[in-house]
Amino acid sequence: MTEAAKLTLSGQDHDYPVLSGSVGPDVVDIRKLYGQTGAFTYDPGFTSTASCQSKLTYIDGDEGVLLHRGYPIGELAEQSSFMEVCYLLLNGELPTADELEKFSWTISRHTMVHEQLAQFFRGFRRDAHPMAIMCGVVGALSAFYHDSTDIHDPQQRMIASHRLIAKMPTIAAMAYKYSVGQPFLYPDNSLSYTGNFLRMTFGVPAEQYEVNPAVEKAMDRIFILHADHEQNASTSTVRLAGSSGANPFACIAAGIACLWGPAHGGANEAALNMLHEIGTPERIPEFIARAKDKNDPFRLMGFGHRVYKNYDPRATVMQKTVREVFAALNVQDPLFETALRLEEIALSDDYFVEKKLFPNVDFYSGVILSAIGFPTSMFTVLFALARTVGWVAQWNEMITDPDQKIGRPRQLYTGPTQRAYVPVGQR
Ligand code: SDX
Repeated sequence: MTEAAKLTLSGQDHDYPVLSGSVGPDVVDIRKLYGQTGAFTYDPGFTSTASCQSKLTYIDGDEGVLLHRGYPIGELAEQSSFMEVCYLLLNGELPTADELEKFSWTISRHTMVHEQLAQFFRGFRRDAHPMAIMCGVVGALSAFYHDSTDIHDPQQRMIASHRLIAKMPTIAAMAYKYSVGQPFLYPDNSLSYTGNFLRMTFGVPAEQYEVNPAVEKAMDRIFILHADHEQNASTSTVRLAGSSGANPFACIAAGIACLWGPAHGGANEAALNMLHEIGTPERIPEFIARAKDKNDPFRLMGFGHRVYKNYDPRATVMQKTVREVFAALNVQDPLFETALRLEEIALSDDYFVEKKLFPNVDFYSGVILSAIGFPTSMFTVLFALARTVGWVAQWNEMITDPDQKIGRPRQLYTGPTQRAYVPVGQR
């Protein structure tokens, strides 16, 4: 046990236990601080706050390390599959071949959605943002599955988790089809999880759809890279919503809402829009200058990270995948050259170096997804599709954590102190 942390407040000394994990920073256990001192800690954005214990994902921001249940993201991206990573995150160990086959079969048996769910799409305008549709339709799942909402029943939690992982591709593909005015395709469970998604998205009833193996592999790898990421904003949203005992489908809809923000998962859409706005490498200095200008709210989208202060290991894999997809599809996209030049120029600029800003997972993903044929508005939907397994794994871990209770932060109050009401005639 590490020596206790000492705090002196109003002349009183207080000791707080220091807890160590298996790896990474120690934590100061301040659960008794308010009771003993009458003071709160203050940490907007939670930059120095551990909200929970977790065994799922470990990130070392300085070393650019990302482990899922101890396995490095680079090895999982190269050697694993998204279904296998889903099993790993949910169960804690890599599956045997038999376990993986059974898990994949189980997931495939939940890919269809209730036929009435299709009616929810009809209420949206065709030009509705697909993330608005995802918030609405995934939230609506909470009205369909009353047999899997006793969150204290492990069996029901697992069925809800399987349903969410299995139905996200179907709903995501339906959101895309609705936006382009094409009919929905039912899942085809003879295909892989990712192949099924590609067919539901890009296939049409009038023709046979052939899954391109190179695209299927790249998409599967992109899903792996987005599966989970410690206590990021949307995962913390799911945990907080779930801490009240809320319906699991509604909790995931809350995570989707948070992920949509351009500072979080919405950055992949914003990054590609920014690359389009930059256009050619010649205009890069102009945008770098704007990103550095304190009076300009513009930020270089796809750059920077709350935790990674060296590089985002996922961006490294993503950049490599761009080259593989471009070769497989025999495409060239000048935006990729602009992205490479932007990274090169930004990383040689003192502002970005000293603030440790470099490409994150969202910077290159848009270039690949565009090459595959997704419209920019679908990029964050794909992020939500992949991150669903992380959200449900973290939600399960939160519910089974004996330390967890309803999340209810306090505040530093800076408003008016008590004052008497003044009737309107006397104001
Ligand atoms: C994701 O948390 C996760 O794990 C998220 C994620 C996941 O998998 O779940 O990894 C996915 O959300 C990746 C991040 C995607 N967001 C973007 O690419 C949007 C652009 N990036 C920024 O908005 C920002 O970098 C954040 C939000 C990602 C991180 O913000 P922080 O840690 O709160 O840092 P900050 O906003 O306090 O910035 C520190 C400094 C500031 O300057 P000073 O006030 O100190 O002078 O760096 C500057 C910022 O102005 N800065 C940038 C910048 N990002 C930060 N300046 C220009 N361009 C940027 N992109």
